[in-house]
Amino acid sequence: MKAAVIRKFGTPDVFEIDDIETPTPKNNQVLVRVYASGINPIDWKQRKGNHRFILGSPFPIILGYDVCAEVVQTGSNASKFKPGDIVFGVLDNKYGGALAEYAVGTEKCFALAPRNIRFEHAAAFPMVSLTVLQALRDKAKLKPGQTILINGASGGVGHIAIQIAKLFEAKVIAVASNRNQSFVESFEPVRFIDYTKTDLLKIKEKVDVFFDIAGNYSFLKCKHLLKNGGIYINTLPRPKILFHKLLQIFTKGKKVKTLLMKHNNNDLEQISMWIAQGKLKVEIDEIFNLSNISAAHDYAQTGHNKGKNVVVIN
Ligand SMILES: NC(=O)c1ccc[n+]([C@@H]2O[C@H](COP(=O)([O-])OP(=O)(O)OC[C@H]3O[C@@H](n4cnc5c(N)ncnc54)[C@H](OP(=O)(O)O)[C@@H]3O)[C@@H](O)[C@H]2O)c1
Repeated sequence: MKAAVIRKFGTPDVFEIDDIETPTPKNNQVLVRVYASGINPIDWKQRKGNHRFILGSPFPIILGYDVCAEVVQTGSNASKFKPGDIVFGVLDNKYGGALAEYAVGTEKCFALAPRNIRFEHAAAFPMVSLTVLQALRDKAKLKPGQTILINGASGGVGHIAIQIAKLFEAKVIAVASNRNQSFVESFEPVRFIDYTKTDLLKIKEKVDVFFDIAGNYSFLKCKHLLKNGGIYINTLPRPKILFHKLLQIFTKGKKVKTLLMKHNNNDLEQISMWIAQGKLKVEIDEIFNLSNISAAHDYAQTGHNKGKNVVVIN
């Protein structure tokens, strides 16, 4: 099969398009033919080698987690899907494996893809939507009428976060640069803040939830923006998290939490239902072919995309 492989960590030009052996699914896995893969920051961070101390360097590595794909073969203990099913999901292998014509993942990675959208769009949803749903429902326990500030509202996670927060009937304050103001405002937050003009730490509002997707703040810096009992959530574990957890004791019930996405096909089914009902949309910034994977990573790693970038494979 054709795949984008890396044989060393480094800049986007480490990718090589190669013919390699198609993976064989284990008993609990599903083999899928990948139509498209959404790019997430974890992909380019792993290409740089940021996770090599945890995941090792098992070259040749195939990166990429998000897929929209067709089920080709199922392992003997995998009965949820059948060949021909169109699924979307987040692969659960070390380093993913999505940037190839075929990939494997266990059943919990996938759900049937929504039928009302194109496969490039379906491929863009999984990781960002699972992240947001689990952050807002499980970590923030977001309730109707509460106010959530979303910092990094124009990116992959951010624009989905505005929509899911509104499905939870929360009031959204969205923070991004003026470049993306009209895009972010199209999701109708109650307020837009341009971080290039306004110092977020000096705003007057107090919020129930500060969702720091851009990750450039900390509980310590912005706890004064939280109401009593308010929650600061980020998506990247911080070295000072234990200190911040200790600090919680002195902050009138304010809390700091970190969200690490978990594979869960019930959650994917919920997301698929919202998409089918037209309640959740994804914005595609750029679409690339697999042969242009270096350009795709070059663009994505600037960290200023509007929505998602997608690589089309089959
Ligand atoms: N823990 C998990 O399970 C998990 C899952 C998914 C993602 N993540 C992490 O979440 C982060 C965001 O992911 P993503 O997919 O949304 O990335 P992305 O699509 O690259 O978006 C990043 C966004 O951050 C905004 N931004 C950049 N600098 C900013 C600043 N100073 N203040 C406010 N916003 C700023 C950009 O908006 P402008 O262009 O308007 O500046 C851009 O839209 C990444 O670090 C990723 O690794 C973690």
